[in-house]
Amino acid sequence: MPATLWTITLPSLLFFVVRPTVLVKDGNVQVCSCTRKNSKDLSNHNLKRIPSDLPDDIECLDMSHNNISNIVHGDLNRLTQLCFLTITHCGIQFISHDAFYNNQELRVLNVSYNQLTVVPYLPLLQLRILDLSSNNYDSYGLPGFFNNLTHLNDFSIGSPRATSVSVNDLAPLQNAPLKQFSFGDASELQKYETGSFAQLRSLEKVALRVIFCQSFHIFKKMLTDLDQTRTKTVRLVKLFPPQCTIAGDPFDSLPKTRFISGLTVEDTWMNSSVMVKLMLNIWKSPIEKIAFRNIIYNEDTPYGFHFPKQHCTTKLQAIVFDGVKHYQYQYPKINMSTELLSHLTYLKFSGTGMSILPCRLISAIPSLQILDLSDNLLEDTGFWWFCYSYKGMFPALRHLSLSYNRFYDLAFISKKIHEMKVLTSLDLSFNSIVIKDPCSWPSHLTELNLSHNNLGNTVFKYLSPYFQKIDLSKTGISVISHNVISEFPRLTHLFLSFNSIRSIPSYLHAPALLTLYVDQNAITSIGHNVLEGLPSLKTLKAGNNPFVCDCDSFWFVTALNKTLLPDWPFDYTCSAPESQAGMTLQKYQQSQQGLLFCQAGLQAAVALSVIIVTVTVLGIIFYACDGVWYNKMFWVWIRVKRRKSKHANRLMNATFCYHAFISYSQYDSAWVDSQLVPALEGSGLSICIHERDFAPGQWIVDNIINCMESSYKTIFVLSNNFVQSEWCNYELFFAQHRAISVEDDLLVFILLEPIPVDSLPKRFLKLRTLLRKQTYLEWPKDDQKKKLFWSSLRSILQTADKSIILKQVALDILCCLFSVV
Ligand SMILES: *[C@@H]1O[C@H](CO)[C@@H](O)[C@H](O)[C@H]1NC(C)=O
Ligand SMILES: *[C@@H]1O[C@H](CO)[C@@H](O)[C@H](O)[C@H]1NC(C)=O
Ligand SMILES: *[C@@H]1O[C@H](CO)[C@@H](O)[C@H](O)[C@H]1NC(C)=O
Ligand SMILES: *[C@@H]1O[C@H](CO)[C@@H](O)[C@H](O)[C@H]1NC(C)=O
Ligand SMILES: *[C@@H]1O[C@H](CO)[C@@H](O)[C@H](O)[C@H]1NC(C)=O
Ligand SMILES: *[C@@H]1O[C@H](CO)[C@@H](O)[C@H](O)[C@H]1NC(C)=O
Ligand SMILES: *[C@@H]1O[C@H](CO)[C@@H](O)[C@H](O)[C@H]1NC(C)=O
Repeated sequence: MPATLWTITLPSLLFFVVRPTVLVKDGNVQVCSCTRKNSKDLSNHNLKRIPSDLPDDIECLDMSHNNISNIVHGDLNRLTQLCFLTITHCGIQFISHDAFYNNQELRVLNVSYNQLTVVPYLPLLQLRILDLSSNNYDSYGLPGFFNNLTHLNDFSIGSPRATSVSVNDLAPLQNAPLKQFSFGDASELQKYETGSFAQLRSLEKVALRVIFCQSFHIFKKMLTDLDQTRTKTVRLVKLFPPQCTIAGDPFDSLPKTRFISGLTVEDTWMNSSVMVKLMLNIWKSPIEKIAFRNIIYNEDTPYGFHFPKQHCTTKLQAIVFDGVKHYQYQYPKINMSTELLSHLTYLKFSGTGMSILPCRLISAIPSLQILDLSDNLLEDTGFWWFCYSYKGMFPALRHLSLSYNRFYDLAFISKKIHEMKVLTSLDLSFNSIVIKDPCSWPSHLTELNLSHNNLGNTVFKYLSPYFQKIDLSKTGISVISHNVISEFPRLTHLFLSFNSIRSIPSYLHAPALLTLYVDQNAITSIGHNVLEGLPSLKTLKAGNNPFVCDCDSFWFVTALNKTLLPDWPFDYTCSAPESQAGMTLQKYQQSQQGLLFCQAGLQAAVALSVIIVTVTVLGIIFYACDGVWYNKMFWVWIRVKRRKSKHANRLMNATFCYHAFISYSQYDSAWVDSQLVPALEGSGLSICIHERDFAPGQWIVDNIINCMESSYKTIFVLSNNFVQSEWCNYELFFAQHRAISVEDDLLVFILLEPIPVDSLPKRFLKLRTLLRKQTYLEWPKDDQKKKLFWSSLRSILQTADKSIILKQVALDILCCLFSVV
């Protein structure tokens, strides 16, 4: 087996595993999916019987720790969808034959810790997990219906009154695909018939809850049988009683097994003499992992645990001590060469009371990859104490858990971590960490768990940009700023649960972030722009926050894809406003009460339809009143107004002979003479006209330039004739004076008649641009509009008060409206 097997099966060091809340699992197959909606927990309710008013659609029911003496037909017959029933510690003495008649969906049944005197009749064909242990039947003889339980995967049986097992007793289990099997009730067994276990062909994990003291021949027979079934892991629960003189070697059958790879010794006395025997046998067996859980360790040998040199290599890779009480109240003496442990990859010493690391033992193990020292009494100097040379310390260590200890100085720890050359993850949760000095983390450390330490908002400054996974749950953080997060470009997992963060800043920038936990904080709403800088986010846990159910939560409630939220919907409730307090966000979403008001789309739709109607009406009126023309005029006027300020002083600071120079074609002279000149000169403007004012003998272009330069503005009267006869001079002029453009407001264009742009020669670039952009005044045919035309033109030439023109435009439009209505 590869070393990774153990790193997968040992949960305590598995970083960052997200567990579903109440799924009942059998191996990796989901058996029942108990959600809060379909589950009922009635444990510890002082009930005398199963209540008759349970909802019919219940799938998961917990009735443990009540006082229910029997289960009969009427009790459960309405619960036809029942999948999971646990009814332990109830003093049940009797289960009737038809008790589960209507519960054919039942897959998990736990009736352990009761007073059943016979194995009940349970013809439940879907049953996957059945626990009948700790009852009072006097025989392990299983009834025939077990033959029909062809899905039974996990079965527990045990009674202190049953003291013998025969092949026939367990024969009905032969059809079951039994993988997990728990046998016994912490009592001694008188008789075991060889082959009883061996007939359970598919066993993988077995727990033997049998006391052995004198009867080791039974233990050896059982082990041999289990090895025949190719059982992989064996748990020995309550193996030895406190007082027991062990003669011989109880474990000498272990080296003969071929398939058992994991052994756990649990809830038992363990004398150092026995421990040595056990380890010597394990050394020669195929066992890869040995675990001692909750043992009382008694040093009955003068030199403590003295493990002699071995000449064979061992398969052992993982050693776990999880909960050790020292009978002598002293440090255990260990005399064992590190060389013997050279294959070890996983080591756990948890709950052992360790306060200093044994000198040069653990730290020198060359292949050790995972070390779990959680739940001890270690502190900074107890772990890094003087006996170390600090050279070659933990050469292969990748994961180190120091949680539930007494470590305190983060800066010190960060420096010491440099000595562990390949360490990638460090767990410092549940310590007494304080932040004093700057930290310097090595770049190989990418995961840090600081949860449950009192650190505060500044903690981010003491972390490393190389971190990918950071757990800061319950560390007293109240504020996160978005730039703080962007200092961790590699961050994939950030856990901030159980803090007092009031809001997640918008536009956090963490492109690699996959998982963000902000549940159990003080967040009132989550806006859509929070997620914009988190393109990779797959999981957002944000439940149990005091959400305010108003428009701020609108996006979160309606638009956010809830597959992102593992804790949706049950952990999301409104805390304000008062009328909504306690309502789940999901209900709030469905009720639509306040939300209708917030729906931006709806508002927009209403507004839009109003606008459309208004615009249509106005459009019709405008069309009737030549609104297009007015519009253009208005537009020109606005542009004039905008530019005016720029050139406001030009007229003041320069001296001009004329307000305007008018350039036009001979063919349009009638209009110019009869309309334009009188209108402008009549209002006190001086005008330059080439017929009248050009100096004789000069080339026309020079004349134009002179005239333009001595005029404040130049008016072009555009017509088809003008374009044909005059414009080429101006193109030339514009080419010479690049500084002046047609858009310059020194030039004023009057369009006397429509000029199709496409009819113009291609070389008239300026003119084409000009006409496309419609930056001209259009001469109207309608007398009404002519007034407006003149006032616009005058305003362009003067620095007159523009409000007059605006008033004029308004008046003209009004007149038109009235004449239409
Ligand atoms: C950090 O440590 C705590 C306590 O030991 C544990 O519950 C949590 O799962 C760890 N965090 C991660 C991300 O593994
Ligand atoms: C359970 O109920 C029985 C009567 O039904 C009573 O005699 C007994 O004392 C109760 N046990 C407990 C632990 O409450
Ligand atoms: C049944 O319930 C007991 C008591 O709660 C528990 O220890 C045991 O693990 C349960 N059995 C199974 C198979 O889950
Ligand atoms: C097992 O199932 C068969 C067929 O469904 C049935 O005839 C038989 O009575 C069942 N046996 C028991 C002991 O329930
Ligand atoms: C352990 O050793 C003590 C003596 O120190 C003895 O009394 C006891 O029976 C032994 N127990 C086991 C389980 O070996
Ligand atoms: C450890 O055991 C070896 C023999 O395996 C022995 O020589 C040595 O003295 C022991 N050390 C201690 C400190 O007891
Ligand atoms: C939500 O996201 C999941 C997975 O990313 C996708 O399959 C699902 O279609 C999405 N649902 C909606 C309503 O967009």
